[in-house]
Amino acid sequence: MPVTILAIESSCDDTSAAVISDGLLLSNVTASQSVHEAYGGVVPELASRAHQQNIVPVVDTALKQAGVTTHDLSAIAVTLGPGLMGSLLVGVSFAKGLALSLGIPFIETNHLQGHILAHFIQKAGEEPRPTPPYPFLCLLVSGGNSQIVKVKAYNEMEILGQTIDDAAGEALDKCAKIMNLGYPGGPIIDRMARKGNPTAFSFAKPHVAGLDYSFSGLKTSLLYFLRKQMQADADFIAHHANDIAASFEKTVVDILMQKLQLAVKQTGIKHVALSGGVSANTALRQAFIEKSQKAGWHIYIPPFSYTTDNAAMIAITAHHKYLDGEFCSIDKPPYAKVCV
Ligand code: KG4
Repeated sequence: MPVTILAIESSCDDTSAAVISDGLLLSNVTASQSVHEAYGGVVPELASRAHQQNIVPVVDTALKQAGVTTHDLSAIAVTLGPGLMGSLLVGVSFAKGLALSLGIPFIETNHLQGHILAHFIQKAGEEPRPTPPYPFLCLLVSGGNSQIVKVKAYNEMEILGQTIDDAAGEALDKCAKIMNLGYPGGPIIDRMARKGNPTAFSFAKPHVAGLDYSFSGLKTSLLYFLRKQMQADADFIAHHANDIAASFEKTVVDILMQKLQLAVKQTGIKHVALSGGVSANTALRQAFIEKSQKAGWHIYIPPFSYTTDNAAMIAITAHHKYLDGEFCSIDKPPYAKVCV
């Protein structure tokens, strides 16, 4: 009998469900929440209410697309954390209830581990993608995290450096918010930056020792810059929006790449992967590819559908855990902060 797992992800503002069978992905369905656009950021209470509305149809569609019923399932997996507590509670309660009612094991996964293991997702019926060999380095960049991780095995990861304040995605989202461009800011800045000049303006870069990141000073630098320019020209943002977006984005990418290069130098590991929502960014992908060509890195970039939050990455993580018999007690509560 095949090992078939239903995985659920609800840690932030995407409700996602995926079905994996014997390590091959059969379905991956995600409902995004547009309700937050009006607020320029995720509103936690609205996110959990939207998850409650989405969870049943999303799971139902994932099962149907996979061609399985709940009776074919070997286990139920879910993101236990980190994330927004109200959002996590919806997916976790649903997953626990389903596992209990079906009498099958419950598997908990870490959201960040999932982002990294997205590189191992293989879709049923598709040509296998090259996967990174252990150990490899992973630049994990999302809305809430910026980390350089040494991945020694699927369940053994060492954080070599991480942000001491804002995350890279948060910096891009805030840049868009300050400029009144919309939400989520990352994809908007990405689109505008492609039409702008990345060297038109310069912003402050942090001086943080070692492999840690900092992005909050950059945000302040943008605020001061805009205030000063707008005192002289009230329409400054409207006239230079693409150039500002391109210059700000370039600074974020430069900061990310500089520490990543240092990590490669310090560890001697040349298999390097990108993960998380910001890994969808055009300029970051380009800088990553250029660096690999110059420095002889072997690089791994996830398909766009596995960069932002998705349950396929939870499903592949759960598949490994199932094979190792790593099941979780139904009593274990979700957690908001990183606790790995
Ligand atoms: O991984 P993710 O979906 O959620 C978290 O786990 O945080 O990442 C969301 C982040 C947001 O900050 C969003 O603006 C950013 O990823 N993002 C992008 C792009 N697409 C999503 N940032 C830059 N360029 C993009 N194309």
